[in-house]
Amino acid sequence: MVLNVLQLTDFHIFSDPKTKFFGVPTIKTLKDILVKVVDLNITFDHIIITGDLTSDEELISYQTVKELLGDMISKCKIIPGNHDDRKLIRKVFPECVENKNGPINFSISTNSWQLIGLDTHVFGKLYGTISDETLLWLKSMLNKYKNKNTILFQHHPPIPVKTKWTDLLGLKNPDPFIETLKQNPQIRLISCGHVHQEFQGHLENITIFTTPATSVQFQKGTDFLKCDPIPPGFRIFSFDNDNWKSKIIRLDELKYPPVEN
Ligand SMILES: [Fe+2]
Ligand SMILES: [Fe+2]
Repeated sequence: MVLNVLQLTDFHIFSDPKTKFFGVPTIKTLKDILVKVVDLNITFDHIIITGDLTSDEELISYQTVKELLGDMISKCKIIPGNHDDRKLIRKVFPECVENKNGPINFSISTNSWQLIGLDTHVFGKLYGTISDETLLWLKSMLNKYKNKNTILFQHHPPIPVKTKWTDLLGLKNPDPFIETLKQNPQIRLISCGHVHQEFQGHLENITIFTTPATSVQFQKGTDFLKCDPIPPGFRIFSFDNDNWKSKIIRLDELKYPPVEN
């Protein structure tokens, strides 16, 4: 049976709907993205939201996200980004979070695949880490479902994406995490958010993806932040026994060109 999974990331919603993010009205772009998702006519088994749901970490911003997602919420799992508040995610989206305290990680086990979400949020910082607690939990999940192909979702990429300024804000101290990855060849893919651009790379035999934001896009390969005037997007996956496919889908047009501050 084919498993269809949608990854949405980096909504950057503000409590005041008039506030824009680099000139982009993020509520409107998220609405357009969700219309595009529905138009695909694919039944997604799971929707994974990989962080930065808000830009201001306010209750009302999370409530706006929940309202926009509507019925999709029952399929959603959420992990936090740097611009998120764990307490507010738990308060607004209790149905999308598995545990009541600590890092917001999740595991979904299907016939032949395990989908894992890892919390890389560090309070008050733009960079991320895999905490000791999350690493221990990850090891236990990998042991429990050793025979299943595995995909990890996390906000911060574990390797440089070759865009200098975002690479300084990636995953700090990744070595113990990378050691765990090397010891678990069932891990096939890692898909991240945070960098607001499409990227594909490798770590050993693992394919590493980043996924476009539903809000503003950042240019690849620059030393300093530069917005990319291309439409917002998302990523879809299909998993079928040992095989996987993934592709990026973007809005047809750039309705709201970005403006650098
Ligand atoms: Fe972001
Ligand atoms: Fe981020």
